[in-house]
Amino acid sequence: MIQGKLVRFRTMERNDLPYVKAINEDPQVRRNVVGWGWPNSLAELERWHERSQGGSTHRWVVVDTADRVIGVTGLWDVDMQSRHALTALKLGGLEEVRGRGLGTDAIKTLMAFAFYDVGLNRLYSSILVDNAASTRAYVDKCGWSVEGISRQHVWRRGGYVDLQQVGILRSEFDALPGAEEYVQLVLGSSGT
Ligand SMILES: CC(C)(COP(=O)(O)OP(=O)(O)OC[C@H]1O[C@@H](n2cnc3c(N)ncnc32)[C@H](O)[C@@H]1OP(=O)(O)O)[C@@H](O)C(=O)NCCC(=O)NCCS
Repeated sequence: MIQGKLVRFRTMERNDLPYVKAINEDPQVRRNVVGWGWPNSLAELERWHERSQGGSTHRWVVVDTADRVIGVTGLWDVDMQSRHALTALKLGGLEEVRGRGLGTDAIKTLMAFAFYDVGLNRLYSSILVDNAASTRAYVDKCGWSVEGISRQHVWRRGGYVDLQQVGILRSEFDALPGAEEYVQLVLGSSGT
């Protein structure tokens, strides 16, 4: 378990898959995430879950203080030599939970875990230029930088959309107000 202030993460289990199906079908999520996917049956998701265990992929569900599963996050392509990883976050699915600060809390929690428990030095992701909530949460509220633009990189809703490449270094996380509090929360909860 990985503890933040408003949310916590736990490993994604087989019985979370109906939730994963719901969030994958959430129109706000489908509109805004970078990856596109066919609608999946539960049986397909079960095969996907089996295939994706272990290795450099670590998927978690996001749980709120009422014990509801409200999102998915994780680390992908974890590189322990160069000490970087890809991360992503989706909130929604069964409940409307966006826009209440839970995403910002989840991103700070993820950073504290990645930088201080795993020992990474850099996290990176990508955000569609028209995804204002994600840009606000990652860049404006959590200290991430836009490192480049991949022009017309993603086909979405009938047109090509530019993609922002975003990233953050551990030293930049350290400079965020309240970073130390997240580190203490995460180090006190993870690995138990
Ligand atoms: C992106 C996401 C994870 C952010 O989580 P969240 O809980 O909504 O984020 P927060 O509430 O912590 O912060 C969002 C900020 O964006 C602002 N915001 C939301 N929609 C906005 C819009 N259309 N235009 C401008 N700002 C917007 C919010 O007001 C808030 O800022 P504030 O706290 O200063 O008011 C969540 O919205 C989400 O899962 N969206 C759908 C999937 C997705 O886009 N995932 C990310 C892919 S890169």
